[in-house]
Amino acid sequence: MKIKPFGVEEWMNKYEMEAVYNIAETCVDSLTVNELLELSGKKEEVLEEITKMRVTYGNIHGHPHLRELIATLYSSVKPENVLTTTGGISANFLALFTIVEPGDKVISVAPTYQQLYSLPEALGAEVSLLQLRPENNFLPNLEELKELSKDGVDLIILNNPNNPTGALMDKGFLEKIAEIARQKGAWVLCDEAYRGLEHKEEDKTPSMVDVYEKAVATGSMSKVFSLAGLRLGWLTGPSEFIRECALRRDYTTISCGQIDEALALVALENKDKILARNLSIVRESVEIVDNWVKSEERISWVKPKAGTTGFLHYDYAKPSEEFCIELFRTNGTFLVPGKCFDRENWLRIGYAYGKETLRKGLEGLSSYLRKLEKEGVGRVS
Ligand SMILES: Cc1ncc(COP(=O)(O)O)c(C=O)c1O
Repeated sequence: MKIKPFGVEEWMNKYEMEAVYNIAETCVDSLTVNELLELSGKKEEVLEEITKMRVTYGNIHGHPHLRELIATLYSSVKPENVLTTTGGISANFLALFTIVEPGDKVISVAPTYQQLYSLPEALGAEVSLLQLRPENNFLPNLEELKELSKDGVDLIILNNPNNPTGALMDKGFLEKIAEIARQKGAWVLCDEAYRGLEHKEEDKTPSMVDVYEKAVATGSMSKVFSLAGLRLGWLTGPSEFIRECALRRDYTTISCGQIDEALALVALENKDKILARNLSIVRESVEIVDNWVKSEERISWVKPKAGTTGFLHYDYAKPSEEFCIELFRTNGTFLVPGKCFDRENWLRIGYAYGKETLRKGLEGLSSYLRKLEKEGVGRVS
C-alpha cells in the first residue's frame, strides 16, 4: 500500500526539538500527572489503585466506567457503542479502515488533519477535497458539496472544530450536511478531537453522531483534556458499525493501556474543572493572537471560534516552508508552514500551550517580519 508522507507530523518530528518558542503545539497546556491527581481531590486513592493494579490487558474494548463517561459527552450514545483507541489518530484509522473500500467515493474537507484524506486515498478510495476558504469563514460551501456528491458518495469526512482554521460548524450547518449525506446514503466521519473547546458558551456544538444516524465521531483526551501522553482516544457510531470496528481492532490494538485508561477516567470524572481551566486558557490566548494580528498590517486571519489553532495569512512573497525554517533559525519561534496543508502563504499557529511562550513567539514573529521588510521582500500578487 502506498501512502503520502504526513506533512505536519514530519515537520514536527524534524524541527520541534529545535524550537525555543513553540507556537505550533495543538494541545491546551498539558497537565502533569500530579496536577491531574491534585485537581481530582483523590490523589492518594488513585495512586493506591494504580500501584495495586495487576498489569494485564485490562478490559479489551475499554474500561466500562470510562466508556460510560465518554458516552456522557454525547446525547444519544450508549457506553457499548464506544471503543477506546490509542489516541484520536487510531480512532480515525479504525473508522477509515472499517468504512473505506477500494474504489469508494470519499469527500473530505481541506485543509484539515491530513490523515483524514491521505489514509482513505491509500486505502484505494477516490478522494475529492471540499476546499474551505477564508471568504466563507472556512466553512464548507454546501453547493460545492452537492456538486461533488452528485454522482454518488460513500463517505463525507469532516473535522469539527477544524484544525488548522478553528472554524466551527453549528448544529444547523451539521443538519444540512446530514441531509445531503442522507440523500446519498453516505457515511459521515467527523473528527471531533477539539469539540468542547468552543470559545463562546453559546457556540457549544453537538457531535455529528447526535445529528445524523449514519455518522461516526472520533474524540481524544489529547487536546481538550490536555493529556496527549495518555494516548487515549475513542470512536462511536451505530451498533453494527462498532461491532465491525471491534473486529478490526482485534488485529491492531487488543486493548488500550490500563494505566492510561485509569487516568483518563479521573480526567473525565473531573471534566468540568479541566474544561473551565482550558476554556479560560484558549479564550485569553486567542485574544492575544487577535490583537497581534490587528497590529500587523500584512497578516490576517479568520478569528477561530473553537479549538487551539488558527490559520494566519501572510502577505510576504516567501514560500511557507522557507519562511518557517528561517523564522526559527533567526529566533527560535516555531510554527507550521501552510505547505503541510497544501496552502501557500499560510501558517498554522497553536496558541494554547502557554501564554508566555505565545507572547515571546509573537514577538519573535514580528521581529522576523521586520527583517523581511528590511530585506525588501515584496507582497504576494
Ligand atoms: C484533528 C485531529 N485529529 C486527531 C488528532 C490526533 O491526536 P491524538 O492521537 O493525540 O488524539 C489530531 C492531532 O493533532 C488532530 O489535530
